[in-house]
Amino acid sequence: MNAQQRIIVGCMRLSQKSPEEAFRFLDHAMEHGCRFFDHADIYGQGQCEELFGEWLSPSRREQIFLQTKCGIVPGKMYDCSKEYILQAVDRSLERLRTDHLDRLLLHRPDALLEPEEVAEAFDQLEQSGKVLEFGVSNFNAMQLSLLQSALKQKIACNQLQFSAAHTVLVTSGMENNMKTPGAVSRDGYTLDYCRLHKIQVQAWSPLQYGMIEGSFLTNPDFAALNKTIAKIAERYNTSPAAIAIGWILRHPAKMQVVCGTMNPDHLEEMLLAQDIHLTREEWYEIYLSGGNILP
Ligand SMILES: NC(=O)c1ccc[n+]([C@@H]2O[C@H](COP(=O)([O-])OP(=O)(O)OC[C@H]3O[C@@H](n4cnc5c(N)ncnc54)[C@H](OP(=O)(O)O)[C@@H]3O)[C@@H](O)[C@H]2O)c1
Repeated sequence: MNAQQRIIVGCMRLSQKSPEEAFRFLDHAMEHGCRFFDHADIYGQGQCEELFGEWLSPSRREQIFLQTKCGIVPGKMYDCSKEYILQAVDRSLERLRTDHLDRLLLHRPDALLEPEEVAEAFDQLEQSGKVLEFGVSNFNAMQLSLLQSALKQKIACNQLQFSAAHTVLVTSGMENNMKTPGAVSRDGYTLDYCRLHKIQVQAWSPLQYGMIEGSFLTNPDFAALNKTIAKIAERYNTSPAAIAIGWILRHPAKMQVVCGTMNPDHLEEMLLAQDIHLTREEWYEIYLSGGNILP
């Protein structure tokens, strides 16, 4: 049940808060029904997992679905070798103060990834009970297919960037067969592949635009998009954030959304999105306001 929650609490920014603030935020998330938490070993250089581990009592551990990622060695390389994966999981378990992960993701496609080696690592982790499920992040269709061909376990999910301001996942499909810039497939038609093979898509950075620019909701460069979102928010008597998340949830792939706020009020706004069902007209109006075209 928890693995299917549509709103996932992303913990990448946890270490930007004091321990007290971070624990208050996590308590608040639990009180509001959040049970799915997303981590990576590199978030806060391990501090995010560490803080979470401090907060994670045995009774909380029983209630939640805990996902983390490995495979990025910051500033240096990607590493999806067997040895690295096994060591990374041990380090994450230690920081998170738990004996198992509900799911482990490979954070990014590593050019030197050897599927058979990953398969050995996954088998070992599964047999030891350290990891229950496996997934990936930022993989394209062929990369998914290649990795899956070596694995006994089914790839459960693919975490990908998707928002009203970052529409790569759907744009090339709609501009298919055209000479327009949007027709270029930047991701190998990953969304269709995931739907075809029942790989759960998790959308990361639903509000954030770029690495440092902040949320597009407060960015004047997205004036037209924000005007449309604000108008629709008024119609539904809700916040712009709920509409922006609702736009992702409206897609028939039934994506999960990995939200990165550390503000309890913002989290509540995002959770409201689960009760919003945008019309087809509203979905396309938001898509076009973001600067996209329909050929
Ligand atoms: N797989 C990957 O490669 C990858 C990459 C990046 C992230 N992720 C995952 O995705 C999660 C979310 O990523 P993210 O944090 O970049 O995405 P996000 O949820 O789109 O953005 C969060 C940022 O937006 C701000 N924000 C939230 N609600 C707002 C509102 N109503 N108005 C204005 N600003 C608002 C937040 O500030 P406040 O805290 O003040 O609300 C925070 O700075 C991460 O925690 C991580 O788990 C995965």
